[in-house]
Amino acid sequence: MKKINIVLFGTGNVGSILVNQILQARESLQQKEGLEINLPVIANSTTAFFQKENQQSSWEADLKNFGFPYKLEDILDYVQKQQYGNLIAVDATASEEFVDNYLDLIRGGFHIVAANKVANTLSSQSYTQLRETLQEHNKHFLYETNVGAGLPVIETLRNFYRANERVTKVRGVFSGSLSYIFNTYCEEEKAFSEVLTEAADKGFTEPDPRVDLSGKDVARKLLILGRELGLQKEFEEISIQDLVPVHLNGQSTLKNFQKKKKDLDPVFSKLKKDLKRDEVIRHVGELDLQSGILDVKLVTENRTSALGSLKNADSSFEIFTESYGEHPLVIKGAGAGAAVTARGVLTDLIKLAEKLPS
Ligand SMILES: NC(=O)c1ccc[n+]([C@@H]2O[C@H](COP(=O)([O-])OP(=O)(O)OC[C@H]3O[C@@H](n4cnc5c(N)ncnc54)[C@H](OP(=O)(O)O)[C@@H]3O)[C@@H](O)[C@H]2O)c1
Repeated sequence: MKKINIVLFGTGNVGSILVNQILQARESLQQKEGLEINLPVIANSTTAFFQKENQQSSWEADLKNFGFPYKLEDILDYVQKQQYGNLIAVDATASEEFVDNYLDLIRGGFHIVAANKVANTLSSQSYTQLRETLQEHNKHFLYETNVGAGLPVIETLRNFYRANERVTKVRGVFSGSLSYIFNTYCEEEKAFSEVLTEAADKGFTEPDPRVDLSGKDVARKLLILGRELGLQKEFEEISIQDLVPVHLNGQSTLKNFQKKKKDLDPVFSKLKKDLKRDEVIRHVGELDLQSGILDVKLVTENRTSALGSLKNADSSFEIFTESYGEHPLVIKGAGAGAAVTARGVLTDLIKLAEKLPS
């Protein structure tokens, strides 16, 4: 039986569902994959809990009752003393500070699986340093959920890149929240601000919807895909259409934005009026490998196209390559959500385990 030992950082939406998915899958993984997954440490931003044996059925209560304030060194010391092999740190945080720990974790014997996008969107210098450290210590780093949650976007691009298949363009609706907003706005007779409120009520947007509307999250995903294909770009080089009017942007409070969000309505109403009968508005990310241009913008699409026919909060990624020619490979489905993301992280863990010794 192969054993992996996971230290989970982050017990929010994704992290907590991940623990439950691991517990539910445990028996079947042992039987089908010959794989035993242990979770010796679970931590959030302030508290860690060291599991003695496999008693995770009440991990939430254990973390609450027996958790203690910790530093990273406490965890590194503990796993070393316990002589855990096949160690994997799971980053289910959204934290920039936590990413500063990656190099120490790798040096301390950990492979890394991350839902957190931050490490892959820092400067090219940090990106390269991380990969050099991984190589030096013979460690792996998997992060499929960084783009498209559980959809196999990064793996597909990486396979093309490794097999020398020239990818010429990647284009798509990268954001579940913006997908929902424009899919709904173009179908229904509602003001843009109304649809925005609806999207927030359904939990599709960030608490501050300007995070989605700014296009920055889509830009981060675009950068990750570009770098996966060998493009050396910085975040600042991405052209981003910000949908938040200047007078309601970061300088103004969230409360003020909520109060005045109707100010957005005339702009979008004009865009909608200008559409031809068979057209819809979509928020897309576009990566042109030939020109090296990364673009985040609103476009008009025919409503029968892959992007134009999107429904609900689905994402869609069109991958144009030399062999696929004019007809791209399309990966489409739920591109956000804690359950699909946690399942994607679990899939990364199983893939990583295949590379590790028994
Ligand atoms: N939800 C999705 O649909 C989705 C899709 C794809 C990718 N992701 C990514 O998945 C990650 C997790 O998302 P989420 O929705 O689960 O976030 P969340 O609910 O905000 O949870 C974040 C967790 O990280 C912990 N944390 C923060 N800083 C930490 C630190 N320095 N050390 C250890 N733990 C720390 C927080 O601890 P406290 O509880 O103590 O604050 C919290 O438990 C994010 O990077 C997100 O971008 C999410």
